[in-house]
Amino acid sequence: MRISDKPIAARLKELGVELRPGVPLREKTSLGIGGTTDQLLLRRFETIPEVMHLLANEKIPHRFLGGGTNVLIADGELPYVVLHLPTSQPGMRVEGNAAYVDAAADLGGMVTFCAKRDLGGMEGLIGVPGSVGGALRMNAGAYGTQIGSYVREVELYRAATGKLETLRGDDIRFDYRHTSFAPDDVMLRVKLELPSKPFKDILAVIKVCNEKRRASQPLNQKSAGCIFKNPPGGSAGRMIDELGLKGHRVGDAMVSDRHANFFVNVANASCADMLRLIDEVRERVRVTYGIELENEVIFWKN
Ligand code: EPU
Repeated sequence: MRISDKPIAARLKELGVELRPGVPLREKTSLGIGGTTDQLLLRRFETIPEVMHLLANEKIPHRFLGGGTNVLIADGELPYVVLHLPTSQPGMRVEGNAAYVDAAADLGGMVTFCAKRDLGGMEGLIGVPGSVGGALRMNAGAYGTQIGSYVREVELYRAATGKLETLRGDDIRFDYRHTSFAPDDVMLRVKLELPSKPFKDILAVIKVCNEKRRASQPLNQKSAGCIFKNPPGGSAGRMIDELGLKGHRVGDAMVSDRHANFFVNVANASCADMLRLIDEVRERVRVTYGIELENEVIFWKN
Protein backbone atom coordinates (compact mmCIF):
# COMPACT_ATOMS: atom_id res chain seq x y z
CA MET A 1 0.00 0.00 0.00
CA ARG A 2 1.39 3.37 -0.99
CA ILE A 3 0.60 6.46 1.06
CA SER A 4 3.57 8.73 0.34
CA ASP A 5 1.55 10.78 -2.17
CA LYS A 6 -1.42 11.17 0.18
CA PRO A 7 -2.04 14.18 2.48
CA ILE A 8 -1.57 11.94 5.51
CA ALA A 9 2.15 11.66 4.66
CA ALA A 10 2.74 15.30 5.68
CA ARG A 11 0.77 14.87 8.93
CA LEU A 12 2.80 11.79 9.81
CA LYS A 13 6.02 13.68 9.14
CA GLU A 14 4.90 16.38 11.60
CA LEU A 15 4.60 13.63 14.21
CA GLY A 16 8.20 12.62 13.55
CA VAL A 17 7.30 9.52 11.57
CA GLU A 18 9.76 8.57 8.85
CA LEU A 19 8.08 7.19 5.74
CA ARG A 20 10.02 4.78 3.54
CA PRO A 21 8.15 4.07 0.33
CA GLY A 22 7.92 0.65 -1.29
CA VAL A 23 10.00 -1.51 1.02
CA PRO A 24 10.27 -5.23 0.09
CA LEU A 25 9.47 -6.97 3.37
CA ARG A 26 11.46 -10.03 2.33
CA GLU A 27 14.45 -7.88 3.34
CA LYS A 28 12.94 -7.43 6.82
CA THR A 29 12.14 -11.05 7.64
CA SER A 30 14.38 -13.94 8.60
CA LEU A 31 12.54 -16.16 6.10
CA GLY A 32 13.38 -13.77 3.28
CA ILE A 33 9.74 -13.83 2.17
CA GLY A 34 7.25 -10.98 1.96
CA GLY A 35 5.72 -8.48 -0.48
CA THR A 36 6.18 -4.74 -0.75
CA THR A 37 4.62 -1.83 1.09
CA ASP A 38 5.34 1.56 2.65
CA GLN A 39 7.17 1.42 5.96
CA LEU A 40 6.58 3.91 8.80
CA LEU A 41 9.27 4.37 11.43
CA LEU A 42 7.89 5.85 14.62
CA ARG A 43 10.23 7.99 16.68
CA ARG A 44 8.40 8.38 20.01
CA PHE A 45 5.94 6.17 21.90
CA GLU A 46 3.92 9.24 22.88
CA THR A 47 2.88 9.80 19.27
CA ILE A 48 1.48 6.30 18.78
CA PRO A 49 -2.14 7.09 19.77
CA GLU A 50 -2.17 10.03 17.37
CA VAL A 51 -0.55 8.07 14.53
CA MET A 52 -3.08 5.26 15.02
CA HIS A 53 -5.91 7.77 15.07
CA LEU A 54 -4.71 9.28 11.79
CA LEU A 55 -4.41 5.90 10.11
CA ALA A 56 -7.88 4.88 11.32
CA ASN A 57 -9.42 8.14 10.06
CA GLU A 58 -7.89 7.65 6.63
CA LYS A 59 -8.87 3.95 6.69
CA ILE A 60 -5.28 2.86 6.16
CA PRO A 61 -4.75 -0.69 7.41
CA HIS A 62 -1.47 -1.26 9.27
CA ARG A 63 0.57 -3.93 11.04
CA PHE A 64 3.49 -3.67 13.44
CA LEU A 65 6.60 -5.54 12.40
CA GLY A 66 9.15 -6.38 15.07
CA GLY A 67 12.24 -8.49 14.42
CA GLY A 68 10.48 -10.27 11.53
CA THR A 69 11.74 -13.63 12.74
CA ASN A 70 8.46 -15.45 13.31
CA VAL A 71 6.26 -14.15 10.56
CA LEU A 72 5.29 -15.38 7.10
CA ILE A 73 4.19 -12.46 4.93
CA ALA A 74 2.16 -12.76 1.72
CA ASP A 75 3.67 -12.01 -1.71
CA GLY A 76 3.07 -9.00 -3.96
CA GLU A 77 1.84 -5.51 -3.15
CA LEU A 78 0.55 -5.63 0.43
CA PRO A 79 -2.80 -4.03 1.36
CA TYR A 80 -1.46 -2.43 4.56
CA VAL A 81 1.44 -0.29 5.73
CA VAL A 82 4.00 -1.60 8.16
CA LEU A 83 4.93 0.23 11.36
CA HIS A 84 8.15 -0.02 13.34
CA LEU A 85 8.57 0.96 16.96
CA PRO A 86 11.28 3.31 18.17
CA THR A 87 14.19 2.21 20.29
CA SER A 88 17.16 4.08 21.62
CA GLN A 89 20.59 2.50 22.04
CA PRO A 90 20.90 0.19 23.89
CA GLY A 91 17.16 0.35 24.60
CA MET A 92 17.54 -1.16 28.04
CA ARG A 93 18.73 -0.39 31.55
CA VAL A 94 19.13 -2.27 34.79
CA GLU A 95 18.26 -1.16 38.34
CA GLY A 96 18.92 -3.75 41.03
CA ASN A 97 17.20 -6.93 39.85
CA ALA A 98 14.92 -5.09 37.46
CA ALA A 99 15.57 -4.69 33.74
CA TYR A 100 13.64 -2.09 31.75
CA VAL A 101 13.68 -2.96 28.06
CA ASP A 102 12.19 -1.46 24.88
CA ALA A 103 10.00 -3.84 22.90
CA ALA A 104 12.02 -3.06 19.77
CA ALA A 105 15.29 -4.15 21.42
CA ASP A 106 16.93 -7.38 20.33
CA LEU A 107 16.08 -10.37 22.55
CA GLY A 108 19.56 -11.94 22.50
CA GLY A 109 21.09 -8.50 23.10
CA MET A 110 18.92 -8.17 26.20
CA VAL A 111 20.02 -11.56 27.58
CA THR A 112 23.68 -10.56 27.15
CA PHE A 113 23.19 -7.04 28.51
CA CYS A 114 21.58 -8.41 31.68
CA ALA A 115 24.15 -11.22 31.98
CA LYS A 116 26.98 -8.67 32.00
CA ARG A 117 25.25 -7.05 34.97
CA ASP A 118 25.02 -10.40 36.77
CA LEU A 119 21.34 -10.95 36.06
CA GLY A 120 20.43 -14.40 34.77
CA GLY A 121 17.44 -16.68 34.29
CA MET A 122 17.02 -16.07 30.59
CA GLU A 123 20.03 -18.04 29.33
CA GLY A 124 17.83 -20.41 27.30
CA LEU A 125 16.57 -17.50 25.21
CA ILE A 126 20.02 -16.50 24.01
CA GLY A 127 19.73 -17.90 20.49
CA VAL A 128 16.07 -17.06 19.94
CA PRO A 129 16.11 -14.47 17.16
CA GLY A 130 13.74 -11.51 17.27
CA SER A 131 12.68 -8.50 19.26
CA VAL A 132 11.73 -8.38 22.93
CA GLY A 133 8.18 -7.32 21.96
CA GLY A 134 7.71 -10.29 19.66
CA ALA A 135 9.04 -12.62 22.34
CA LEU A 136 6.64 -11.13 24.89
CA ARG A 137 3.58 -11.33 22.69
CA MET A 138 3.95 -15.05 22.14
CA ASN A 139 5.85 -15.95 25.30
CA ALA A 140 8.92 -17.14 23.43
CA GLY A 141 10.80 -19.98 25.05
CA ALA A 142 13.66 -22.41 24.64
CA TYR A 143 15.59 -24.85 26.79
CA GLY A 144 13.19 -24.58 29.71
CA THR A 145 13.06 -20.76 29.80
CA GLN A 146 10.01 -18.70 28.88
CA ILE A 147 10.17 -14.92 28.94
CA GLY A 148 6.76 -14.64 30.66
CA SER A 149 8.15 -15.98 33.96
CA TYR A 150 10.17 -12.80 34.46
CA VAL A 151 7.65 -10.15 33.39
CA ARG A 152 6.60 -7.70 36.09
CA GLU A 153 5.11 -4.89 34.00
CA VAL A 154 4.32 -4.25 30.35
CA GLU A 155 3.70 -0.86 28.82
CA LEU A 156 1.57 -1.16 25.73
CA TYR A 157 -0.64 0.63 23.28
CA ARG A 158 -4.16 -0.74 23.59
CA ALA A 159 -6.01 -0.40 20.30
CA ALA A 160 -9.25 -1.12 22.20
CA THR A 161 -8.93 2.09 24.26
CA GLY A 162 -6.64 4.04 21.93
CA LYS A 163 -4.34 4.71 24.91
CA LEU A 164 -0.93 3.82 26.29
CA GLU A 165 -1.40 1.60 29.36
CA THR A 166 0.71 -0.32 31.85
CA LEU A 167 -0.25 -3.87 32.82
CA ARG A 168 1.06 -5.72 35.84
CA GLY A 169 2.74 -9.06 35.12
CA ASP A 170 0.19 -10.81 37.39
CA ASP A 171 -2.62 -9.58 35.17
CA ILE A 172 -1.15 -11.19 32.04
CA ARG A 173 -1.45 -14.91 31.26
CA PHE A 174 1.61 -16.54 29.79
CA ASP A 175 1.05 -20.04 28.40
CA TYR A 176 3.03 -22.17 25.94
CA ARG A 177 3.61 -19.81 22.97
CA HIS A 178 0.44 -17.93 23.90
CA THR A 179 -0.45 -14.89 26.00
CA SER A 180 -3.59 -13.02 27.04
CA PHE A 181 -2.63 -9.88 25.10
CA ALA A 182 -5.25 -8.79 22.57
CA PRO A 183 -4.11 -9.32 18.96
CA ASP A 184 -4.00 -5.56 18.39
CA ASP A 185 -2.16 -4.69 21.61
CA VAL A 186 1.27 -3.24 20.80
CA MET A 187 4.05 -4.01 23.26
CA LEU A 188 6.18 -0.92 23.97
CA ARG A 189 8.36 -1.58 27.02
CA VAL A 190 8.74 -4.26 29.63
CA LYS A 191 10.02 -4.48 33.18
CA LEU A 192 11.54 -7.85 34.04
CA GLU A 193 12.69 -9.10 37.41
CA LEU A 194 15.70 -11.37 37.10
CA PRO A 195 17.61 -13.52 39.57
CA SER A 196 21.17 -12.46 40.50
CA LYS A 197 23.79 -14.80 39.05
CA PRO A 198 27.50 -14.29 38.36
CA PHE A 199 28.29 -13.50 34.72
CA LYS A 200 30.61 -16.48 34.34
CA ASP A 201 27.90 -18.92 35.50
CA ILE A 202 25.41 -17.39 33.07
CA LEU A 203 27.98 -17.62 30.30
CA ALA A 204 28.52 -21.33 30.98
CA VAL A 205 24.78 -22.03 30.52
CA ILE A 206 24.64 -19.80 27.43
CA LYS A 207 27.48 -21.82 25.89
CA VAL A 208 25.64 -25.10 26.43
CA CYS A 209 22.42 -23.71 24.90
CA ASN A 210 24.32 -22.35 21.91
CA GLU A 211 25.99 -25.69 21.31
CA LYS A 212 22.69 -27.60 21.53
CA ARG A 213 21.10 -25.16 19.14
CA ARG A 214 23.98 -25.29 16.66
CA ALA A 215 23.84 -29.09 16.68
CA SER A 216 20.10 -29.36 16.07
CA GLN A 217 18.89 -26.29 14.16
CA PRO A 218 19.66 -24.85 10.69
CA LEU A 219 21.03 -21.55 11.98
CA ASN A 220 22.72 -20.52 8.74
CA GLN A 221 19.63 -20.79 6.60
CA LYS A 222 16.67 -18.48 6.14
CA SER A 223 13.89 -19.68 8.45
CA ALA A 224 11.31 -18.50 10.96
CA GLY A 225 12.31 -21.02 13.61
CA CYS A 226 9.75 -23.72 14.30
CA ILE A 227 6.80 -23.63 11.92
CA PHE A 228 4.38 -25.56 14.14
CA LYS A 229 3.71 -25.51 17.87
CA ASN A 230 4.38 -28.79 19.60
CA PRO A 231 1.13 -30.62 20.32
CA PRO A 232 0.56 -31.37 24.04
CA GLY A 233 3.06 -34.02 25.09
CA GLY A 234 4.41 -34.41 21.54
CA SER A 235 7.05 -33.07 19.20
CA ALA A 236 6.13 -31.68 15.79
CA GLY A 237 9.77 -31.99 14.65
CA ARG A 238 9.99 -35.66 15.57
CA MET A 239 6.71 -36.55 13.81
CA ILE A 240 7.68 -34.73 10.60
CA ASP A 241 11.08 -36.40 10.73
CA GLU A 242 9.49 -39.85 11.25
CA LEU A 243 7.40 -39.27 8.15
CA GLY A 244 10.62 -38.94 6.17
CA LEU A 245 9.83 -35.38 5.17
CA LYS A 246 13.23 -33.80 5.81
CA GLY A 247 14.35 -32.26 2.54
CA HIS A 248 10.78 -32.27 1.14
CA ARG A 249 10.34 -29.23 -1.11
CA VAL A 250 7.75 -27.02 -2.70
CA GLY A 251 9.63 -24.64 -5.00
CA ASP A 252 12.38 -23.11 -2.88
CA ALA A 253 10.60 -23.82 0.43
CA MET A 254 12.06 -26.91 2.09
CA VAL A 255 11.71 -28.90 5.31
CA SER A 256 15.15 -28.50 6.88
CA ASP A 257 17.29 -31.61 6.76
CA ARG A 258 18.64 -30.66 10.17
CA HIS A 259 15.43 -30.00 12.16
CA ALA A 260 12.14 -31.09 10.63
CA ASN A 261 10.05 -28.35 12.30
CA PHE A 262 12.17 -25.66 10.62
CA PHE A 263 11.12 -24.88 7.07
CA VAL A 264 13.82 -23.01 5.19
CA ASN A 265 13.89 -20.73 2.17
CA VAL A 266 16.72 -22.23 0.15
CA ALA A 267 16.83 -19.41 -2.42
CA ASN A 268 13.82 -17.38 -3.54
CA ALA A 269 10.80 -19.13 -2.03
CA SER A 270 7.49 -17.32 -2.31
CA CYS A 271 4.92 -17.18 0.45
CA ALA A 272 2.72 -19.41 -1.72
CA ASP A 273 5.47 -22.08 -1.82
CA MET A 274 5.89 -21.94 1.94
CA LEU A 275 2.13 -22.13 2.56
CA ARG A 276 1.81 -25.15 0.29
CA LEU A 277 4.65 -26.87 2.09
CA ILE A 278 3.06 -26.11 5.47
CA ASP A 279 -0.31 -27.47 4.30
CA GLU A 280 1.21 -30.63 2.80
CA VAL A 281 3.15 -31.40 5.98
CA ARG A 282 0.19 -30.62 8.24
CA GLU A 283 -1.96 -32.97 6.15
CA ARG A 284 0.61 -35.79 6.28
CA VAL A 285 0.82 -35.47 10.08
CA ARG A 286 -2.98 -35.36 10.40
CA VAL A 287 -3.46 -38.50 8.29
CA THR A 288 -0.74 -40.51 10.05
CA TYR A 289 -0.95 -39.30 13.65
CA GLY A 290 -4.50 -37.89 13.81
CA ILE A 291 -3.02 -34.62 15.12
CA GLU A 292 -3.81 -31.23 13.62
CA LEU A 293 -0.64 -29.16 14.01
CA GLU A 294 -1.13 -25.52 14.85
CA ASN A 295 1.08 -22.83 13.29
CA GLU A 296 3.75 -21.34 15.51
CA VAL A 297 4.78 -18.91 12.80
CA ILE A 298 2.38 -16.01 12.36
CA PHE A 299 0.88 -15.75 8.90
CA TRP A 300 0.07 -12.25 7.62
CA LYS A 301 -2.69 -12.99 5.17
CA ASN A 302 -3.56 -10.21 2.71
N1 EPU B 1 13.53 -34.39 16.77
C1 EPU B 1 13.68 -35.31 15.78
N2 EPU B 1 13.88 -34.86 14.50
C2 EPU B 1 13.93 -33.56 14.18
C3 EPU B 1 13.77 -32.59 15.21
C4 EPU B 1 13.56 -33.04 16.49
O1 EPU B 1 13.63 -36.50 16.02
O2 EPU B 1 14.10 -33.25 13.00
C5 EPU B 1 13.36 -34.84 18.15
C6 EPU B 1 14.58 -34.48 19.01
O3 EPU B 1 15.57 -35.45 18.90
C7 EPU B 1 13.98 -34.39 20.38
C8 EPU B 1 12.55 -33.91 20.13
O4 EPU B 1 12.27 -34.16 18.76
O5 EPU B 1 13.91 -35.66 20.97
C9 EPU B 1 12.40 -32.42 20.43
O6 EPU B 1 13.28 -31.69 19.60
P1 EPU B 1 14.04 -30.35 20.08
O7 EPU B 1 14.76 -30.63 21.36
O8 EPU B 1 14.78 -29.81 18.94
O9 EPU B 1 12.89 -29.37 20.50
P2 EPU B 1 11.58 -28.95 19.76
O10 EPU B 1 10.44 -29.35 20.63
O11 EPU B 1 11.55 -29.40 18.34
C10 EPU B 1 11.43 -26.65 20.95
C11 EPU B 1 11.01 -25.29 20.51
C12 EPU B 1 12.17 -24.56 19.86
C13 EPU B 1 13.32 -24.47 20.85
C14 EPU B 1 13.71 -25.89 21.25
C15 EPU B 1 14.79 -25.91 22.31
C16 EPU B 1 8.67 -25.36 19.84
C17 EPU B 1 7.71 -25.45 18.72
N3 EPU B 1 9.94 -25.42 19.53
O12 EPU B 1 11.74 -27.38 19.76
O13 EPU B 1 11.73 -23.25 19.59
O14 EPU B 1 14.41 -23.83 20.26
O15 EPU B 1 12.55 -26.56 21.81
O16 EPU B 1 14.26 -25.60 23.56
O17 EPU B 1 8.25 -25.22 20.99
C18 EPU B 1 10.71 -21.84 17.96
O18 EPU B 1 9.85 -21.60 18.80
O19 EPU B 1 10.70 -21.30 16.83
C19 EPU B 1 11.75 -22.78 18.29
C20 EPU B 1 12.66 -23.15 17.43
